[in-house]
Amino acid sequence: MYLDADDEKILNGEYGETRQKMMEILVALGKVFGAERLVPIKSAQVSGASYKTIGKWGLEWLQSLDARVAVPSVLNPIGMDREKWFEMGIEPAFAERQEEVLAAYRRLGIKLECTCTPYYLAITDYGDHLSWSESSAVVYANSVIGARTNREGGPSALAAAIIGKTPFYGLHLVENRKPQVSVVVEGCDPARGLRSDHFGAIGHLAGKEVGNRIPFFSGIRPTKDQLKSLGAAMAASGAVALFHVDKITPESRVFSFDAGGLETITIEAQEVEEVFSSIEVDAVAVGCPHCSPAELERIAGLLRGKTVTKPFFIFAARGVVRSNRETVDAIEKSGARVYEDTCMVVSPAMERFSAIMVDSGKALAYVPGMCGAAARIGTIEECVAEATS
Ligand code: F3S
Repeated sequence: MYLDADDEKILNGEYGETRQKMMEILVALGKVFGAERLVPIKSAQVSGASYKTIGKWGLEWLQSLDARVAVPSVLNPIGMDREKWFEMGIEPAFAERQEEVLAAYRRLGIKLECTCTPYYLAITDYGDHLSWSESSAVVYANSVIGARTNREGGPSALAAAIIGKTPFYGLHLVENRKPQVSVVVEGCDPARGLRSDHFGAIGHLAGKEVGNRIPFFSGIRPTKDQLKSLGAAMAASGAVALFHVDKITPESRVFSFDAGGLETITIEAQEVEEVFSSIEVDAVAVGCPHCSPAELERIAGLLRGKTVTKPFFIFAARGVVRSNRETVDAIEKSGARVYEDTCMVVSPAMERFSAIMVDSGKALAYVPGMCGAAARIGTIEECVAEATS
């Protein structure tokens, strides 16, 4: 793989041991995937931020690093709201370790915005090269924005953040962004009932069939928030990092010709209906991926004049919560709680429940394994009804 003179110096240890290690990670990755060179990135988003997922060894590794990031960089959600952790039911010992993780990242120059929706906080444009590691953020950046990132692991995103470059392979190359399978969704129409256009449920089904291929969807007209749900669900039940939606996503016109003649998967309204169950739950959690300002508004509207009767958690990025304070206050008037920095999957706070209702295909896939609780999916209207019944 070609390295410029500066990259060579970093690799030879002239800019310190940490940078050398980080360059070694990028060079090893580049060699495995046949990258010809590195490409400069505009931003990085680093996973491996919750103490629940990285534990003692991950923390010690982070504390051993000595460098600063070269590009704007943020973190994935951590295990707690940094201010309301006690109210969430987080143990002080966990909170202390979690703060140590954040201190280690702060020392590296990473901004302590802990979110899976970094695209709500900083401008990310069509064609930007990125190194993001949260799967739902990766699929949104690639598909909805038209930016370019592979699905990075925490260490490779951190390495790219410190070097300011990533190996130029995979989804960074236009020729690798062509659709590989066609997905037709039949009967997706809100007039048939809200479940038929529940994009978390559609994505849950589609991801299982598509696996790690690039799907080209037709028969749907999702909003940006619905595209977010669709992508996150496919990234969880499959390993989708990019999808196109006919006449909706920015690269669909570029590739609509390539979509003809591909294997076709059909998703019917009845199958979508079958993803929904009616198991008893003892908590409700929404905001996976983190809520947009419009989603917070919608929840506030649905909760107006109501009082919650079981724990109702809503998750959003710190920047989004703070710039929508009135909406957040309106939500919390009902007794529901809005938490920033964290989520229902990476926080140990959710482990005390036996069954959790979510409105997300991704949470439906991850809650059982990560929280040890059963999961049930519903529309946002159904989630609010369950939390206030
Ligand atoms: Fe985000 Fe947590 Fe869901 S990281 S995508 S809210 S599992």
